Amino acid sequence: MNFSYKKVNQLIKSRRSTKPRYFNGEKIADEIVWQILENAGWAPTHGLTQPWRFKVFTDDGLKKLASFQADLYQKLTPEDNFKPEKYARMKTNILNSSHVVVICMERQKSEKIPEIEEIEAVACSVQNMTLTAAAYGICSFWGSGGVTYTQELKDFLGLGEKDLCLGYLYLGYSDRPATLSRRDPIQEKVDWINSVNS
Ligand SMILES: Cc1cc2nc3c(=O)[nH]c(=O)nc-3n(C[C@H](O)[C@H](O)[C@H](O)COP(=O)(O)O)c2cc1C
Repeated sequence: MNFSYKKVNQLIKSRRSTKPRYFNGEKIADEIVWQILENAGWAPTHGLTQPWRFKVFTDDGLKKLASFQADLYQKLTPEDNFKPEKYARMKTNILNSSHVVVICMERQKSEKIPEIEEIEAVACSVQNMTLTAAAYGICSFWGSGGVTYTQELKDFLGLGEKDLCLGYLYLGYSDRPATLSRRDPIQEKVDWINSVNS
């Protein structure tokens, strides 16, 4: 198969995270979200365990998730640390989205594959989703703030003891141009070994 490497390069570089507060409320067709999820399922996976599990919240489901997480934030935060604007944001980030894909990892029963590899596989699946979204002109944001790593969220999502929640992928459309981002030259992160003496 022959893909346009130029287009792939362009897609990867132009993918940008857009914060949900910049979403415009427009709904993504469910069929497109299913295509995004379909592509998530083609991520690499050691032993074909396919550890990714996704809980998709949309329509009134967004209200369910928003209320749950804002109330949990209030419950877990000592009164003198509680920030009303954070409480509000915990709702609006979700309610501004068209769909929120809660990213989960289901631990293999035998635990044969190291846990880190299962997390890596799920991270790859998320990148498949963000790239697919970008190709459709859909904005995405992977966030792990707030209550992501709490036991209460795991219970709410029905996760098993050894499963993990790895954050939310917020999806929506935006009228704003994507926020700029930057990366260090990749050469700074690469050791290139091409001789026995390198
Ligand atoms: C696992 C993971 C969790 C993240 N959680 C947050 C978060 O909670 N809040 C935040 O501002 N950015 C978070 N980010 C970073 C953004 O998703 C985004 O990648 C970053 O702002 C860089 O923007 P860019 O993707 O457009 O280059 C997270 C990224 C990853 C990979």
